[in-house]
Amino acid sequence: MTDNTIDVGQIVLDFSYLVSAILFVIGLKLLSKPESAKRGNLYAATGMVLAMITTLFLHKDIQGNSIPLTNVLVIVLVISIGTVLGAVIARKIKMTAMPQLVSFYNATGGAASALVALMEFSNPDNSSILVTLLGLVIGSIAFSGSMIAYGKLDGWIKDWLSPAMKYVNLFMLVLVTAVVVYLMIAADPLISSSVLIYILFIISLLYGIFFVMPIGGADMPVVISLLNSFTGIAAAMAGFIYKNQAMILGGILVGAAGTILTILMCRAMNRSLLNVIIGAFGGGGAVAGNREIGIIKEISLSDASILLNYAQKVVIIPGYGLAAAQAQHVCSELDALLTERGVEVKYAIHPVAGRMPGHMNVLLAEADVPYEKLVEMDDINPQMPGIDVAIVIGANDVVNPAAIDDPSGPIYGMPIINAHEAKNIIVMKRGMGKGYAAIENYLFYGDKTRMLFGNAKDSLQKLVAEIKNL
Ligand code: TAP
Repeated sequence: MTDNTIDVGQIVLDFSYLVSAILFVIGLKLLSKPESAKRGNLYAATGMVLAMITTLFLHKDIQGNSIPLTNVLVIVLVISIGTVLGAVIARKIKMTAMPQLVSFYNATGGAASALVALMEFSNPDNSSILVTLLGLVIGSIAFSGSMIAYGKLDGWIKDWLSPAMKYVNLFMLVLVTAVVVYLMIAADPLISSSVLIYILFIISLLYGIFFVMPIGGADMPVVISLLNSFTGIAAAMAGFIYKNQAMILGGILVGAAGTILTILMCRAMNRSLLNVIIGAFGGGGAVAGNREIGIIKEISLSDASILLNYAQKVVIIPGYGLAAAQAQHVCSELDALLTERGVEVKYAIHPVAGRMPGHMNVLLAEADVPYEKLVEMDDINPQMPGIDVAIVIGANDVVNPAAIDDPSGPIYGMPIINAHEAKNIIVMKRGMGKGYAAIENYLFYGDKTRMLFGNAKDSLQKLVAEIKNL
């Protein structure tokens, strides 16, 4: 008699997963354009809420039992607390702290998957031991690695460079593999296995820390996207443990998107993945080359305004400092003013400018800068010699010529926006502070370069006022 009811419940559950999957895919597609990204988020979130509600009320275990009411209440309570916390944090967080927040959320995703694997390892109904172990290892690495990335992006964890790290990491990787293999071949979950699983958990956490600690300089974007894909894969593994299609699909989508992003970031940095992970590149502190340092030349506001007002082609090169100063709106105002006066204004977008993938695109979209004005690095570089004025606003590493001509430097080989090829270069920054890779930038000392010191927002406001007076 109950058979029919069970079937109907299962059919509804499966159908809801299908609808959720479709919503995830549509959401992901809409996320690819700034105008539709908000809707994309809503679609994906609706899919997630649908999957959570139907699972909560319709899921049955192997014996056919529903989730006990007390468990449902605990789950709803915890989700409610999480929702309130998430909403408050999302509202209060400054745009500049967004990359750290993304890393933190990534860490929590990894931790959740690792805990699922830890709990389910000794569950006799769980037949997917390899998947459980992989979920534990990958989830733990994603958790501890992302927490270190969070600290690095926030500036309170420094790169930890030591030639020995390479060997320590290799040793830990071998150890993790050996424990996984042992647990796989040990026929039943033995007493010793339950101790070993906690040891595996701890080694994986340590590996996540040691793996991210030495990576710094300009290579962080690759690690961040790699950790992102780890979290997705770990979530998919947790989905396999519970044989939950929505979780598997959600995890695979995040894992695949993270993997594609990792490949794109590697390309943007002109590095191979192995090179980033094993090479422990790009730590801070190094000074690029042994060149002679030239002299810094400043430009006055009135000279800068005249130069810009009478230019034909201007390229704005935004970087992390534009986000830090929250100067995107006044930057867009300058662009509008110059455009109105017949100057052709474009933005040169470096794939790793800022502190998170797409940072500059999001920032400029917030200030309603038309998307067509944003030109990717590969497309703008051939045009640079014909540009009258390149305005570098709070960017440093992404315009550092050391990437081209200093083989000993930590960013050597990374493609840059060729600001140095423009006819005139105005650099807006507060002082002679270094960029994320912590190296000297000889562009600032170049013959064609002039510095406009000050907080980017203040300088841009004054510049706009000055141009309006011309
Ligand atoms: P950076 O090289 O970090 O340089 C930013 C510059 O902005 C600094 O030199 C700083 O100089 C200036 N600045 C800071 N606050 C300012 C303000 N309020 N007003 C004006 N200027 C200000 O930035 P970038 O060129 O965008 O390069 C990004 C770097 O971050 C790359 O090395 C990249 O690999 C790394 N990274 C990127 C990501 C992603 S995914 N995009 C993630 C992690 C790391 P002053 O102190 O003199 O003002």
